[in-house]
Amino acid sequence: MDDFIKKNIRGLKPSATLAINEKAKKLLKQGNKIYNFGFGQSPFPIPEKIVSTLKENAGKKDYLPMQGLKELRVAISKSLLSKTGIEYDKDNIIITPGSKEAMLLMHVAFNGEIILPAPSWVSYEPQAQIAENKVHWLQTSRDNNWFPTAEDIEKKIKSIGNKNIILIINSPNNPSGTVCNNLKEIAKVAKEYKIKILSDEIYTDLTFDQNYLSISKFYPEGTFISGGLSKWCGAGGWRLGFFASPDGNKEFINALKTLASESYSTVNSPVQYAAVEAYQGNYDDYKAKTTHILKSVGNYVYNNLKSNKVLINPPQGGFYLMPEFLNSKFKTSSEMCDDILSKSGVALLPGSDFGFKNDKMLTRLSFTDFDGDLFLKNISGSKELDDDIIKKYAPNVVEGTKKLAEWHKNL
Ligand SMILES: Cc1ncc(COP(=O)(O)O)c(C=O)c1O
Repeated sequence: MDDFIKKNIRGLKPSATLAINEKAKKLLKQGNKIYNFGFGQSPFPIPEKIVSTLKENAGKKDYLPMQGLKELRVAISKSLLSKTGIEYDKDNIIITPGSKEAMLLMHVAFNGEIILPAPSWVSYEPQAQIAENKVHWLQTSRDNNWFPTAEDIEKKIKSIGNKNIILIINSPNNPSGTVCNNLKEIAKVAKEYKIKILSDEIYTDLTFDQNYLSISKFYPEGTFISGGLSKWCGAGGWRLGFFASPDGNKEFINALKTLASESYSTVNSPVQYAAVEAYQGNYDDYKAKTTHILKSVGNYVYNNLKSNKVLINPPQGGFYLMPEFLNSKFKTSSEMCDDILSKSGVALLPGSDFGFKNDKMLTRLSFTDFDGDLFLKNISGSKELDDDIIKKYAPNVVEGTKKLAEWHKNL
């Protein structure tokens, strides 16, 4: 039966993030106390007005254009312009069921090779494998905030030679929680060698110090952007994402449209209408509050876990931290995460899932195991969220952090 499945698909496993969630759920069902720091889902409710717009549009039953609802593409184009300062025309935007699908379509259509910084989100490499695009990993360092240097990118491009290349940059980053400080330098190299960049901007509205910068600002003609409602809007299950391309890639956009039409046809209509409200309405207050909570909870974990043996870069956006637990007991980060889960009940993802070598004791910690609705209802303005508030509204995060620190001390 082996040859029934294509070679490039056979070796793939279900997404690691989903697998750890299943494992944690199983332990929970067996009566264990679990701190679910493995799954990166927004803990916050979707803003009410967006939900009510969905309800109002539940009767919209007709297929929408395969590229997506025009009003939605206009709204996304405007939102990108105000955020990045760059014009992404509505005709160069395609609406997808989650940005994950947008990236998959990109890989399927693209004839070339992919450069992935380690760490990278778990799905980039499998998607490239599905589309049979060769992946080149680029190791990064804590000193460069877990992003590649321009020099390393240049070396890699030279080693690949004269081929089409896409470099994927995701800032704020999953899994490191850090923001890229050298976008300008990276853009300069990309421009010089005429490679394309996919700027995965799914976490940009969750940048903690409102200092978000898109690499498209420095290299507009070569930067694709993907994004969607899953993270800032808490609507992961709605599956609404987009892919935006600069001018000059009409054939590529047409290829993506064809792939969309031959697979999912078009994203479901009610959600597209609701998404117009999400991109057109003013949700600054919601974004400010949710980001404030995430920043405070992230900093709580950072301050209470870091030590000279647990190395962590400060959180700068999104849901994650990437602690490194220095030890010589475990051979692989995955073995270490199993031990952590069974001894302390804390579910973490191993760094090896994100492109790091097995023996690097890095992990991804998601600090979203709290009731975001309750937290949101009980804070106002940008008041400092002190430890007492965090203990009250994010008790699992607080307790799990303590368990983790204890686990490491007892090694
Ligand atoms: C870095 C990154 N990119 C993209 C996605 C995909 O999000 P969605 O398909 O829900 O838009 C995720 C979700 O976990 C992510 O972490």
